[in-house]
Amino acid sequence: MTENHIKIAPSLLSADFSCLGAEVKSVEEGGADYIHFDVMDGHFVPNITFGPPLIKSLRKFSSLTFDVHLMIEKPERYIEDFVKSGADIITVHVETCPHLHRTLQMIRDLGIKASVSLNPATPPFFLDYILDKLDMVLVMSVNPGFGGQKFIPSALKKVEWISSLIKESGLNIDIEIDGGIVPENVKEVVKSGCNIVVAGSSVFGKKPVSSAIKAIRDSIR
Ligand code: DX5
Ligand code: ZN
Repeated sequence: MTENHIKIAPSLLSADFSCLGAEVKSVEEGGADYIHFDVMDGHFVPNITFGPPLIKSLRKFSSLTFDVHLMIEKPERYIEDFVKSGADIITVHVETCPHLHRTLQMIRDLGIKASVSLNPATPPFFLDYILDKLDMVLVMSVNPGFGGQKFIPSALKKVEWISSLIKESGLNIDIEIDGGIVPENVKEVVKSGCNIVVAGSSVFGKKPVSSAIKAIRDSIR
């Protein structure tokens, strides 16, 4: 896979919440491919962020793909609201979905892309019976809840495993990695088989964001 195929998804979790519209515009102009939204409920993860109204209010600032990562219990209750708010991809966590197959189908039935995420401790065999319901897999490379944490190296093996599972299946499924991505590790991360990288603190914590995105892109080469 060449660097041309790699998408960069800045996570707004590390942006300045007092001016999110401007932050979204700045990463779009700075060369981002997706905007990554981290939705947290204070139950599944020990942090609270935002919900559909905020996403809806930002929709007018960008035409990029809105990549919505739900770190919430019982996400099926809110899927429709997030679709209406302008999400293009919704990721649910396997750990929060006893009826994962149905939840993924619900997302697709609403006309957008369905994705599932695995925590660092969750084994990849959970994907075995849902592959045909997936447009993307999000591999967590930190324990979800906060930006700015250190990359957990075992995520690389997991990405390799998932990448060969997808190849064998012949399906077209993206692999996104999320947590602790910096210019120093992104090349190795991409080599393991993912084609979308989320970056929060290494984009919004290193302004101007255009240079931060460029530093990540250049490091992939
Ligand atoms: C963590 C979130 C990540 C996080 C990434 O729960 O899912 O998207 O914001 O932030 P960095 O890139 O700073 O690890
Ligand atoms: Zn995320």
